[in-house]
Amino acid sequence: FQHCFSKSKDFLYCEGVKVQDILDSVEQRPFYLYSKPQISRNFEAYREALEGLKSIIGYAIKANNNLKILEHLRQLGCGAVLVSGNELKLALRAGFDPTRCIFNGNGKLLEDLVLAAQEGVFVNVDSEFDLNNIVLAARIAGKKVNVLLRINPDVDPQVHPYVATGNKNSKFGIRNEKLLWFLDAVKSHPNELKLVGAHCHLGSTITKVDIFTDAAILMVNYIDQIRAQGFDIQYLNIGGGLGIDYHHSGAVLPTPMDLINTVRDLVLSRDLNLIIEPGRSLIANTCCLVNHVIGVKTNGTKNFIVVNGSMAELIRPSLYGAYQHIELVSPPPPNAEVSTFDVVGPVCESADFLGKDRELHTPDKGAGLVVHDAGAYCMSMASTYNLKMRPPEYWVQDDGTVAKIRHGETFEDHIRYFEGL
Ligand code: LLP
Repeated sequence: FQHCFSKSKDFLYCEGVKVQDILDSVEQRPFYLYSKPQISRNFEAYREALEGLKSIIGYAIKANNNLKILEHLRQLGCGAVLVSGNELKLALRAGFDPTRCIFNGNGKLLEDLVLAAQEGVFVNVDSEFDLNNIVLAARIAGKKVNVLLRINPDVDPQVHPYVATGNKNSKFGIRNEKLLWFLDAVKSHPNELKLVGAHCHLGSTITKVDIFTDAAILMVNYIDQIRAQGFDIQYLNIGGGLGIDYHHSGAVLPTPMDLINTVRDLVLSRDLNLIIEPGRSLIANTCCLVNHVIGVKTNGTKNFIVVNGSMAELIRPSLYGAYQHIELVSPPPPNAEVSTFDVVGPVCESADFLGKDRELHTPDKGAGLVVHDAGAYCMSMASTYNLKMRPPEYWVQDDGTVAKIRHGETFEDHIRYFEGL
């Protein structure tokens, strides 16, 4: 297993390029740094795992919506998983084939459903009112919509409650006791709806593949019931959710191959087309947030490293108490002591931290410090809190050159929102 970030003589490299050199050559502000070849390798792991199965890899755009990254994933062969009309528009802009896209969500808007219907996107039915809106959208668009029923299988994914979705009290999907109502509703709209499959998504950061097996067994059972009602459905969509090794602990975590192998026989036994919806496991480990140290201070019993990045650029630690590995990009100063630090940003609240209780060498002012595994749900969840402005993004390409793949947001961008009012 080849990973894009590696350390040699205390220098951090991305695909053989010294991160310090990149830091020295770009604007002095936090930035995201990706490895393009790592994105390809992560995709390849899924493609290999799916060999011999009819399948769609639907990349969950919410994880990272950089247009250049989307174009790259599309060229590799991905479909896309969408949760808003704007994500659908972006997917179209990136050249995704809409008939390999899936529109999810518990509160899809009519106008977005109309666009999805026009484009021939698969739509997941999430509730009674959602079904009615899809019917309406089909009529407005004058197109029949291919739908999957999003079933809430009540499987506990054993993750943080904010990222668990497939348990019975969650706001997502339909419960099995209502299945017959939905089948009747689909039957009564033969001009608007074609039922083509069943979908579930259990949650995110899942690190035990048995959880997927449990869900797939339940889902195949539902598919049998649905087929017994006379529907010719071919798609099983098992959602996304595979976790990654945020702790860099060397723990052996399930790979895409492990995931697919737990459902392969079930899928083959029913001659199904498998849809998967990975976000994090395709993109998270391809990137880090690169910061520089503003200063070091001590208050009470706590030592702090204050960096220019913050919860505005990367909110997962603040929001979920998530751990993301932190390290310095260059050798520490001679005789630097190792201490326990909270790594914090300049934002005016105590929730603003990137890491707590990290053993690090005391860095010099200006030293580079990275937060790893920042490719998923970091830039896409960034805000402009404290007018920090969203950071630029770069990637290291296959030939080792570095290219900018997104401009950093500027103060002028902010002012533009008020022009002409
Ligand atoms: N499919 C559906 C229906 C989803 O709701 C999600 C993620 C995915 C696929 C992709 O899941 P993944 O493979 O990335 O785990 N902001 C949180 C994660 C929220 C996930 C939302 N749904 C975080 O930073 O951990």
